[in-house]
Amino acid sequence: MTGATPVFPSQIWQAERLPYNSSVKIILGLETSCDETAVAILRGDELLASEIASQIAEHEKFGGVVPELASRHHLVYAPQLLERATRAAKIDMANVDAFAATSGPGLASSLMIGASIAKGLAIGFGKPYLAINHLEGHLLSPFLNGDFQIKPNISLIVSGGHTISIQVGGLGDYRLIGRTVDDAAGEAFDKVAKMLGLGYPGGPEIEKHARNGDATRFDLPRSMLDSENFSFSGLKTAVRYLLPKLQGDFLADLCASFQQAIVDVLVRKIIAAAKRYDVDLVTVSGGVSCNEELRRRLRDACDRERFEFKSAEPWLCTDNAAMIAFVASLRLDAGFESRVTEEIDPNLALA
Ligand code: KG4
Ligand code: ZN
Repeated sequence: MTGATPVFPSQIWQAERLPYNSSVKIILGLETSCDETAVAILRGDELLASEIASQIAEHEKFGGVVPELASRHHLVYAPQLLERATRAAKIDMANVDAFAATSGPGLASSLMIGASIAKGLAIGFGKPYLAINHLEGHLLSPFLNGDFQIKPNISLIVSGGHTISIQVGGLGDYRLIGRTVDDAAGEAFDKVAKMLGLGYPGGPEIEKHARNGDATRFDLPRSMLDSENFSFSGLKTAVRYLLPKLQGDFLADLCASFQQAIVDVLVRKIIAAAKRYDVDLVTVSGGVSCNEELRRRLRDACDRERFEFKSAEPWLCTDNAAMIAFVASLRLDAGFESRVTEEIDPNLALA
């Protein structure tokens, strides 16, 4: 085993111990699709615990996620998080009504850890198991704070692995509108940050430097503006070619110009989709939606075009288990359950 010290930048909801109400279901969710190990416990619409052990420090020195290392960490941290989460939620494992885990998409060896633990608990306690799509977790996370009703909307999922726009009719009713044909938006942030010698993950680093920068200084490409799909590799290449020509103090301006180019494309395409598909609501989720500039520009554009706008709280935008427990609770209510023989699927699609 690696002797790493776990990092727990988690948020914990300390619930009052309430009388056990059997009509309100308690769901335990596990998320281990990539480099965050996470456990959350949801009772009805109340999030009792949400624990995350980040491995960022471990993978940072390799400049990206090392799958073998990630799964070994999940194996070490998941039992610790289960212990912390049940303690924070003030429940016994035997009170849990259903166990859920991310079953894809993600790294196969990482997915297997969370899914195997959830299946084992479900079998051991004789409770249902639910295999949850990680992307559905992101997709519905804007509804976790507040009303749990999934209203029709146009949704943008922008993460390290995905950039997709989806037409949502309701729970399980998803239609793919557009996707990236090359890099995901978060991947572009990470790769450009690496070129600039900034840390991993790159998104928050670029955002930090962009705050003091002039976004108009460098004219970077906005690709495929007339398509429903996305492309960010041209933008990344433009930065690569520009870099050797730059001298002096350019970091903040380059970060701001790069961030602006990504935000311009995302805002333009999602507003165009919302108009085309005639919805009232626009939602955004995934790690890149932590970005303040993206959130501000999307909110402004939605105000201007008279769309309601919902985003998840920033801590719910990056990978977490609360979104997995949330989708599991909606699916359980709707009568879904998975077989414990259901396999993980590293390429699981949403629509
Ligand atoms: O959703 P997420 O935690 O993991 C995936 O499912 O991929 O997203 C991680 C991605 C990383 O690429 C990271 O650089 C990006 O989200 N990210 C950001 C910000 N915070 C995280 N990108 C831009 N601005 C941010 N503030
Ligand atoms: Zn994710």
